[in-house]
Amino acid sequence: MQDRNESSLAARIEESLAARFGERLRVDPSLTGLDELARIAGHRVHRDFLDRPVEPALLRLLCACALSAPSKSDLQQADVLVLDDAQLRRSIISLMPEMPWLAQAPVLMVFLANGSRTPQLAMLREKPFPNDHLDLFFNAAVDSAIVLTTFMRAAAAVGLGCCPLSAIRDQAARVSDMLGLPERVIPVAGLAAGWPAREGHITPRLGLDTTLHQDRYRQGDLARQIDAYDRRRAAAHPYRRQRAVERFGEAQFYGWSEDKARQYAEPLRNDFGAFVRDKGFRLE
Ligand SMILES: Cc1cc2nc3c(=O)[nH]c(=O)nc-3n(C[C@H](O)[C@H](O)[C@H](O)COP(=O)(O)O)c2cc1C
Repeated sequence: MQDRNESSLAARIEESLAARFGERLRVDPSLTGLDELARIAGHRVHRDFLDRPVEPALLRLLCACALSAPSKSDLQQADVLVLDDAQLRRSIISLMPEMPWLAQAPVLMVFLANGSRTPQLAMLREKPFPNDHLDLFFNAAVDSAIVLTTFMRAAAAVGLGCCPLSAIRDQAARVSDMLGLPERVIPVAGLAAGWPAREGHITPRLGLDTTLHQDRYRQGDLARQIDAYDRRRAAAHPYRRQRAVERFGEAQFYGWSEDKARQYAEPLRNDFGAFVRDKGFRLE
């Protein structure tokens, strides 16, 4: 029974990765931890949730697991903010009108980069702090992203679904004021979570020939690789609508690269650097 279970887990991972990368990787059924690998390989974002609350004790457990993630130099520069207050939640959600589904998400959180504690340690312990530069911001943002990812893995393990929200930074200064974020504390991403209402699907990624390197960065034939990826992805999950048709016209074939090129033909969050500086980070 055990063997059959592990063989089917191995087969599930192989199928997920084939759907993801268009490549069959062999998975040894005798490996330990296949259930975790199966969840990681089968990752999918969830934006549609059941009308079922997430118990506060479970949420606290998942946050504690997330904050168990590794931390650069053990500096512990990531914080998690859970939005409980209904009025505050509505106000924050109203800043992201293109995502009406957020109103139905049982859990809304914000993952913060906290660059304030380390300089405060220097003050408290009466030490110099010659490290007030880009690295302070970068380390805190990386720590926060790792905690976010770890939260998503913990949530997936208990059957919850999640969607990160960079849109929380569309109006970062207003979010910062509403959440009372002090100097050098900024939102990295929001996160919506809940019990998934549907299974969701695996989003194909660029092939491993593009994103996995050995010894040296390999600059392959990007145009060919992107084209192959566009076609593989469109065969599984074609885009349902084209972006900015009035500006760029109707494309005969509309793939991922066309969509991303159109998305990034608009300026996005070009005030974010000013916000980060205003919050007291020095980016030199
Ligand atoms: C840092 C980050 C920010 C994201 N922000 C948003 C967002 O604001 N709104 C949204 O609907 N999805 C957001 N997503 C979800 C991505 O769109 C999703 O991960 C991507 O389409 C790939 O799908 P998958 O996660 O199912 O593989 C975000 C994901 C990440 C990692």
